[in-house]
Amino acid sequence: MTRADRQHPNAARSSALRHDTVPMRLYHEAKQFGAWDPRRLELRQDIQDWSRLTVVERDVLLRLTALFQAAEESMTRDLLPLLTIVLRGDRLEEQLFLTTFLAEEAKHTEFFRRILEEVCRHSGDLQRYQSASFRKLFSEKLPNAMRALLADASAAAQAEALVTYTLVGEGVLGEAGYHVFNSALEGGGRMPGLREGLRLAQADEDRHMAYGLFLLSGLAAEEPGVWSVIDRRMDDLLPDTLGIVSEFFEPYDVVPFGLSLEATIEYAMARFAGRWASLEAAREGGRGAAGVQDPDGALRSVLAWVREQAQPAPVAVRREGTAPIYTFRVGSGGAPTLLITQEVLQHHAPGEIIAALSTHGVPQQLRERAGLRLTCLRAGGKIVVQAPSR
Ligand SMILES: [Fe+2]
Ligand SMILES: [Fe+2]
Repeated sequence: MTRADRQHPNAARSSALRHDTVPMRLYHEAKQFGAWDPRRLELRQDIQDWSRLTVVERDVLLRLTALFQAAEESMTRDLLPLLTIVLRGDRLEEQLFLTTFLAEEAKHTEFFRRILEEVCRHSGDLQRYQSASFRKLFSEKLPNAMRALLADASAAAQAEALVTYTLVGEGVLGEAGYHVFNSALEGGGRMPGLREGLRLAQADEDRHMAYGLFLLSGLAAEEPGVWSVIDRRMDDLLPDTLGIVSEFFEPYDVVPFGLSLEATIEYAMARFAGRWASLEAAREGGRGAAGVQDPDGALRSVLAWVREQAQPAPVAVRREGTAPIYTFRVGSGGAPTLLITQEVLQHHAPGEIIAALSTHGVPQQLRERAGLRLTCLRAGGKIVVQAPSR
């Protein structure tokens, strides 16, 4: 019993919040940028555009929307066991962030269901679109890994669950799916309501993945044996993951919208490589001397991550003369730049820098905003990212 408990034995718990932690930064970000309502998206233009699509174009978009809807429903349901672990661990900041995480998954489920009903005009069961690999992952492996947490809160069980949920579900598959949507709908201003919803949902997913990677790198830092669990789980899930992507394209002799299986797999694997690099960077950071990091190693890891976020645009980095600042230039001309000070690279592990950049919506801004200048510096012992407010 603590002294406070003795003084006020029936008092409710009251804790100070650590606002500079990764979960709290993500929580604040979620309140600012995650507050959107799928019901408020304007879909009138989308309904007209849908009627002008060819039969096979509609089939591709319907298949993709149906799979997203089913996957988001699973992700909403299967997140709950993770909350119980965090609750038992008395991790208040994470509990706060997870309230936004769960609400956002619920909104994604609602968003894709609304598209199915109002744009695609399908209110019934679309299970026929779920291929064998999709069912295996979303009806067996994901729920089993997440529900296992109710009985087993070990670091290994948490790592298995997070590899499945974050790296594969939200990571490789989610990003492959968004890539197919974005490639199909880009140009011509087609289906603006759907595109807006996708943009908002994808920004939510960036925060979810930043949190998942934060948890995974923390587990691996505490128990080095977790790395082999992560490796094994990835090996186990990769065939199903690639199976889902290739089974998606199988029914089409000629895939519309200029889409291809090879380009989609290439994109998803490149994105995955970037996330893997940030995990590896955390591993290297964990091995380094406490307090001071290897700035060249950090620069390489952060560059690998920025390249992966900005693709297909090329990224160049250079140090401005002898100034302790690195400029990451994305694309050419009026493309966005990201400035990171040497001090950040020297004092913070790459995983921490990447988490801070993710928390501040940098990936999304690099993808979308031309001529933007983002600055990442160290102040008061913390990483500060300055980005123009949206
Ligand atoms: Fe989601
Ligand atoms: Fe998510």
